[in-house]
Amino acid sequence: GDVAVVIPAAGLGLRLGGGTPKALREINGESILRRAVRTAAAAPSVALVAVAAPADRVEEVVALVAGVSGARIRVVAGGASRQSSVAAALAAVVEALPIVLVHDAARALAPASLFERVAAAVRDGAEAVVPVLPVADTIKRVSTPDRVAGTVDRAELRRVQTPQGFAASLLRTLHAGAGAELTDDAGLVEAAGGAVRCVPGDELAFKVTTPFDLRIAQALAGGTTH
Ligand code: CTP
Ligand code: MG
Repeated sequence: GDVAVVIPAAGLGLRLGGGTPKALREINGESILRRAVRTAAAAPSVALVAVAAPADRVEEVVALVAGVSGARIRVVAGGASRQSSVAAALAAVVEALPIVLVHDAARALAPASLFERVAAAVRDGAEAVVPVLPVADTIKRVSTPDRVAGTVDRAELRRVQTPQGFAASLLRTLHAGAGAELTDDAGLVEAAGGAVRCVPGDELAFKVTTPFDLRIAQALAGGTTH
């Protein structure tokens, strides 16, 4: 394998609620974190998975991912922001693997085939790669919360998922110099004037953000929805 996967999993999950860090919540008996790590490790190109765990839960997460096969697994403490968690996990990738994928633990049902598709585009020469899907809803801009200011042309809009892929050297350089917080890593490449390539995403790579999303994930994973 020529790919390292960095998994930020240190978030609080405030929008999901429930008091437990989101990555430790379960979808039909298996934690979100373990599902994400297990699927990443199952992708044939993946040699290493580096997880940023909630800082006070590192031991617990080490135990949780013990027994996952297919790739080496490393667990480090995450930070207060997603970006700092990604940086911490990236620093734990000491191997000279040429491709790094950054993947939200919260996208627990993203299939191994998506990891392979993104990695293949980096291998093909793209410096940064994002999986995208079209926008189905009409999108409107508002001037105040109850006043429509216009309709956005959705043909040029995409929903962006993870895993996002990078030439390892580029991602390290950009993270070292990163300033403002971004919600994704390709944004660092855009800010530096680099090119970001789109590949088809996968609906299964949706992010578990709200209680509704968790119900969807449970239904998809074959369990009950209540
Ligand atoms: N993440 C992280 N470290 C943080 C914040 C977020 O590693 N300090 C991770 C989350 O664990 C998640 C991914 O980044 O896998 C995407 O973040 P998000 O969906 O926003 O998760 P949370 O920040 O946990 O949720 P919320 O914003 O609702 O609190
Ligand atoms: Mg968050």
